Amino acid sequence: MTAKTMDELVSLCKRRGFIFQSNDIYGGIKGLYDYGPMGVELKNNLKQAWWKSMVYERDDIEGIDAAILSAPIVLKQSGHEDTFSDPLVDCKSCKSRWRADQLIDKKCPNCKSTDLTEPRPFNLMFKTVIGPVDEGSSFAYLRPETCQQIFTNFKNILDSTNRSIPFGVAQIGKAFRNEITPRNFIFRVREFEQMELEFFVTPGTDDKWHKYWTDNRLEWWISQGIRKNKLKLLTIPSKELAHYSKATIDIMYEFPHGEEELEGIANRTDFDLGSHTKNQKEFSLTSNVLKNNTSTTKLSVQNLEEKQAYIPYVIEPSAGVDRGVLAVLNEAYKEEKLHGENSRIVLNLKPHLSPIKAAVIPLKKNNEKIVNLSKDIKMNLQKIGLGRIMLENSGNIGKNYRRHDEIGTPICITVDFETLEDKTVTVRDRDTMEQKRISLDELIIYYTKYFN
Ligand code: GAP
Repeated sequence: MTAKTMDELVSLCKRRGFIFQSNDIYGGIKGLYDYGPMGVELKNNLKQAWWKSMVYERDDIEGIDAAILSAPIVLKQSGHEDTFSDPLVDCKSCKSRWRADQLIDKKCPNCKSTDLTEPRPFNLMFKTVIGPVDEGSSFAYLRPETCQQIFTNFKNILDSTNRSIPFGVAQIGKAFRNEITPRNFIFRVREFEQMELEFFVTPGTDDKWHKYWTDNRLEWWISQGIRKNKLKLLTIPSKELAHYSKATIDIMYEFPHGEEELEGIANRTDFDLGSHTKNQKEFSLTSNVLKNNTSTTKLSVQNLEEKQAYIPYVIEPSAGVDRGVLAVLNEAYKEEKLHGENSRIVLNLKPHLSPIKAAVIPLKKNNEKIVNLSKDIKMNLQKIGLGRIMLENSGNIGKNYRRHDEIGTPICITVDFETLEDKTVTVRDRDTMEQKRISLDELIIYYTKYFN
């Protein structure tokens, strides 16, 4: 089961501390969200799962973490200064602004007027000032995609590791786009995170690798708890491809607002390494920052057999972290009928994604012995290092269970008077709601086994 509407998810996210509108107390800013105490754990767990599968569990991928502020020349060379825009129209009646390609029947969604301006390109990149003087010339862009710094660091990475083609570079980080109409909660926002892999291959083997990464990425989303029948592959028609792409396949997911892109897997050919390889002196005049910073670096590798340099092709699986969070939350959301009139909302998250791995609940919140023993149990489980263990020292047990069902905590451990006497605790399973009594010695084994 999934959420019936986006509103159900938005409400749960606010109620249980997953996601808040940013700048909420001042009325909020459209397209910006903050991750709360549960949200940050879920998001970090998803990113860790990606990093583990990309970097730790393979032997052909390195990781980097590059600066967000980007030199204008990088985004000139990448084609973003010239082409990274959406068609903008103004409504002449109510003065609102819209993306022309998202209008229904060419009508203003606000006042339904058809008196609109002609569409004009609106560049989505945010600019900021570099240095203490705001004179307009020393600016930088907030990167609109994370991958450009993988390309500009290509030679650094080759020189500092023993990598040869094929190999990849992975990065997770913030990207910024001045979306004209941010919407659908965290689906389309102005500040978001991407998990991007640039996998460099020999030209001619690119189609094979494109297929390999498409299959790999589909399987990965399934391993994060997304049902196969909610995912689809969409081949982007050639006239809709991004300027850098020879072929792109999108992984589409049935979000609460409709089927949309979760991740794109593009064959970027040698477009980016090729663009950054050219002598770029003429462009450096556009920015003070880069006057002495022209690139003459050749981003190529040697073909050992033919003793010739060539620019590798690159396959790029690029996933949105926020869209991933929305998808796993939606998949995990379940409203379950209990006995009689009762029902519960439960998040059936995969345990590795759960924000809290286990809650330790002292049954008597004011009994020092029970509370101290609960604290010891929490610390012992915490030391195992599988994620956050929470001491739940307020509210009654029923409320505690309800809260932990709604945030997806797989195990609740209750400590009571019996525990003081016979060193046993009650363990409650989130999914089955079954409770059983186990000894403290067994608890560590039970917990470790559960997560492995
Ligand atoms: N480097 C390639 C690239 O950036 P993209 O299709 O524009 O390609 C990749 O973006 C992923 O980033 C998308 O599949 C989506 O998950 C996420 N994404 C893009 N724009 C977004 C936005 N405004 N809000 C949230 N996520 C976004």
